[in-house]
Amino acid sequence: MLLICYSFCFNLIFSVRFVEENITTMLETRIISNSEVLYVGGDEGDTSPGTKVLQNFQINEEGGGGLIRSWVDSMRACSPTRPKSLDSQSCWIKEHPSALKMFEEILHESEGKQIVMFLDYDGTLSPIVDDPDRAFMSKKMRNTVRKLADCFPTAIVSGRCREKVSSFVKLTELYYAGSHGMDIKGPEQGSKHKKGNQSLLCQPATEFLPVINEVYEKLVEKTKSVPGAKVENNKFCASVHFRCVEENKWSDLAHQVRSVLKNYPKLMLTQGRKVLEIRPIIKWDKGKALEFLLESLGYDNCTDVFPIYIGDDRTDEDAFKILRDKRQGLGILVSKYANETNASYSLQEPDEVMVFLERLVEWKQLRCGS
Ligand SMILES: *[C@@H]1O[C@H](CO)[C@@H](O)[C@H](O)[C@H]1NC(C)=O
Ligand SMILES: *[C@@H]1O[C@H](CO)[C@@H](O)[C@H](O)[C@H]1NC(C)=O
Ligand SMILES: *[C@@H]1O[C@H](CO)[C@@H](O)[C@H](O)[C@H]1NC(C)=O
Ligand SMILES: *[C@@H]1O[C@H](CO)[C@@H](O)[C@H](O)[C@H]1NC(C)=O
Ligand SMILES: *[C@@H]1O[C@H](CO)[C@@H](O)[C@H](O)[C@H]1NC(C)=O
Ligand SMILES: [Mg+2]
Repeated sequence: MLLICYSFCFNLIFSVRFVEENITTMLETRIISNSEVLYVGGDEGDTSPGTKVLQNFQINEEGGGGLIRSWVDSMRACSPTRPKSLDSQSCWIKEHPSALKMFEEILHESEGKQIVMFLDYDGTLSPIVDDPDRAFMSKKMRNTVRKLADCFPTAIVSGRCREKVSSFVKLTELYYAGSHGMDIKGPEQGSKHKKGNQSLLCQPATEFLPVINEVYEKLVEKTKSVPGAKVENNKFCASVHFRCVEENKWSDLAHQVRSVLKNYPKLMLTQGRKVLEIRPIIKWDKGKALEFLLESLGYDNCTDVFPIYIGDDRTDEDAFKILRDKRQGLGILVSKYANETNASYSLQEPDEVMVFLERLVEWKQLRCGS
């Protein structure tokens, strides 16, 4: 049996309508997403709300404007060859200590509560590699996640399309939230944490599917001239990867992406690690996905639930912020370098994530005597 969302999703359908009618308000009040919005589509000549937003963001001038420049700068600044000074690094570590060093404290905080795990994929479970189609996770990591899912309800929350990320992870007992949470599906089989035998499906942005496809085709065509550029169709969003593009071509590529988006007032452009993402303007992000999943697991309003969210990207901040605001559970940022974050703890790289997950599993198994 297929249970298409809960009332939560019906609310969403209304928010989608609302967005269509009132994009400007949405942006002015910044309720779309915590991710950095670089650009909102829309023709520069007309006076629709999209255009107004565009002017608000000051990227209307010919030649591209400050935002794209500052985006390219920030991408350069955070490339690993330019670490921040040791001072700011040690200060940052004090504010966001290693989740491994603080393991006992974390267990203490979660005492008597049901731990629910949320894991980003790229850069969290798998290393960042040049070809996004080859971002495989190791067998060891898969084994760890399998054991983890046996101990706690576990969800993978990714910017990629759900089918793709589940084809990388290959574990049917997990919850998957693809396209930044715009495409959520429950476990197919074998999960102890599943409610009844209904499967869960939530796709709040179905009406955007044809538009995303169209934009994907145009982006592929337009970016052909930039060597190394790779466009990925993530179903509810599209990504343009910069990983293999020479640095001096980055702003060209960003301008091309922007020129395609110009004709789509209902889409926006956000930035990830060496990637630009095109997605529908709807009030939905990884934080909303986290809330939706907690609700579908039956943990809304529960004080005895302890969600742990691990991620490495700007888009994960929406989830960190929800946990911080609700003073519930904790966020862990995967990063070697100091960076502003609403996560409470840090881990340096996927290998450390694995050690952390292993320790959680060991602890749980010891307690349950299995
Ligand atoms: C957008 O919403 C605001 C209030 O939320 C309202 O004042 C304004 O008239 C709306 N604009 C449009 C174009 O619907
Ligand atoms: C599971 O599905 C079967 C038929 O598909 C139904 O008869 C049964 O009541 C369901 N059980 C639960 C707990 O929903
Ligand atoms: C959860 O709490 C909110 C506000 O505190 C309330 O409106 C909502 O009905 C509650 N939901 C459930 C399932 O108890
Ligand atoms: C660090 O933060 C900046 C903005 O504060 C962001 O643009 C950048 O992507 C972040 N770097 C990493 C490595 O996450
Ligand atoms: C963290 O949260 C604060 C307040 O909610 C917000 O202003 C800030 O932008 C967030 N930081 C990041 C990196 O998202
Ligand atoms: Mg990531």
